[in-house]
Amino acid sequence: MAEKLATLTFTDGTPPIDLPVMTGTVGPDVIDVRALYGKTGKFTYDPGFMSTASCRSSITYIDGDKGILQYRGYPIEQLAEHCSFLEVAYLILNGELPDKQQLDEFVNIVTRHTMVHEQLIRFYSGFRRDAHPMAVLCGVVGALSAFYHDSINIHDARNREISAFRLIAKLPTITAMTYKYTTGQPFMYPRNALSYVDNFLYMMFGTPCEEYRPNPVLSRAMERILILHADHEQNASTSTVRLAGSSGANPFACIAAGIASLWGPAHGGANEAVLKLLGEIDDAKNIPAFIKRVKDKDGHAMLMGFGHRVYKNYDPRAKLIQKTCHEVLEELGLKDDKLFKLALALEKIALEDEYFIKRKLYPNVDFYSGIVYKALGIPVSMFTAIFALARTVGWIAQWKEMITDPDQKIGRPRQLFAGATRREFVPAAKRK
Ligand code: CMC
Repeated sequence: MAEKLATLTFTDGTPPIDLPVMTGTVGPDVIDVRALYGKTGKFTYDPGFMSTASCRSSITYIDGDKGILQYRGYPIEQLAEHCSFLEVAYLILNGELPDKQQLDEFVNIVTRHTMVHEQLIRFYSGFRRDAHPMAVLCGVVGALSAFYHDSINIHDARNREISAFRLIAKLPTITAMTYKYTTGQPFMYPRNALSYVDNFLYMMFGTPCEEYRPNPVLSRAMERILILHADHEQNASTSTVRLAGSSGANPFACIAAGIASLWGPAHGGANEAVLKLLGEIDDAKNIPAFIKRVKDKDGHAMLMGFGHRVYKNYDPRAKLIQKTCHEVLEELGLKDDKLFKLALALEKIALEDEYFIKRKLYPNVDFYSGIVYKALGIPVSMFTAIFALARTVGWIAQWKEMITDPDQKIGRPRQLFAGATRREFVPAAKRK
């Protein structure tokens, strides 16, 4: 088949140029603009990457108009229904679902890396007890690079493998310790006999005083939430990890950068913001006034947990989380949970409102996840930290993919300069 080309013409006398058009396995074609500057002396301008593919990837595919999300080709609905989180982690990292032996080996390795260096634990006492968990998580994960020097040669495949295992294995321990630190309870060491998710719940909610047995329905809900958050192609935090990694920075530092980016309310911090918002609205009778404030753009009021750069349809993860939410509330005898009812009422009103319809604003993954977390007994300030724990799998898979990509270069965007042109220095006494 003949090479597809896009012809770019100019009105300023610059001769037209042909740019190659690249085709993926599915999804929109992309115009390869790499030669543009060399041939024309011009850059492209795309703040927020509205029309820019920043890399080539084979991990996660999203069709935002149809509400499709696939990890390595498998629909998210099937993975959430049938898989454990570590099975999905293996798939995301390796490209294929594991057979029984591969899964056993993977689980065994992850399980045996769950402890953290004893000295790392001292980092926690440097933080205030009321520090936000994301601040602590960012600091402690960044500090891992000071402890595991033996796995930070990014050019060595085995080193990359080991650091991936360490991050996936230690994030639940570090996240649970972050929670324990804020409550003043003792840190719980991991229990290797437990599954990844049960071990996390045990380290979060167990104490040395009594036996802790996770409820299987709640444990399954947590497993599903982790699966739904495991990867989401080139979002802000993943792009941050890739950009940090493009300079050759070590993987622990890159994941800490990803955690920092995830924290923002437009990204992973939205789950926390949704719960705060529901608390503020408080009662269904206050919804119309709130929606009016959103529409009037009054004081930057936004319906948190709604809208997405890519999904212009219902986020498939939100559908699955809404179902999980029903199951969890049923199990806990909280069917009449005030916040859940309020969220359903808010969703209904928003989906029927022309402001949201016109802008294709639908509930995203964060709209219902907070209600599930809250029902599981997780405090609001920990919500985004759990998102980070799950997303670490995606971050590390994307980081590994970037390192081995032959097209990989240090990420170095250019700019449209709009500042002062050259002018001469004026001594302080002569400045007006
Ligand atoms: N509530 C009210 N208006 C909204 C919302 C919202 N949640 N989201 C977008 N809009 C409006 C926005 O004001 C704009 O209106 P106008 O055309 O009149 O200026 C229009 O919709 C387009 O929005 P945008 O900001 O240009 O869209 P974006 O693709 O740049 O932003 C977003 C996407 C997710 C940052 C944004 O929808 C948002 O801030 N949502 C609330 C926060 C949230 O739930 N974030 C979680 C995203 S999913 C999980 C994750 O990524 O971590």
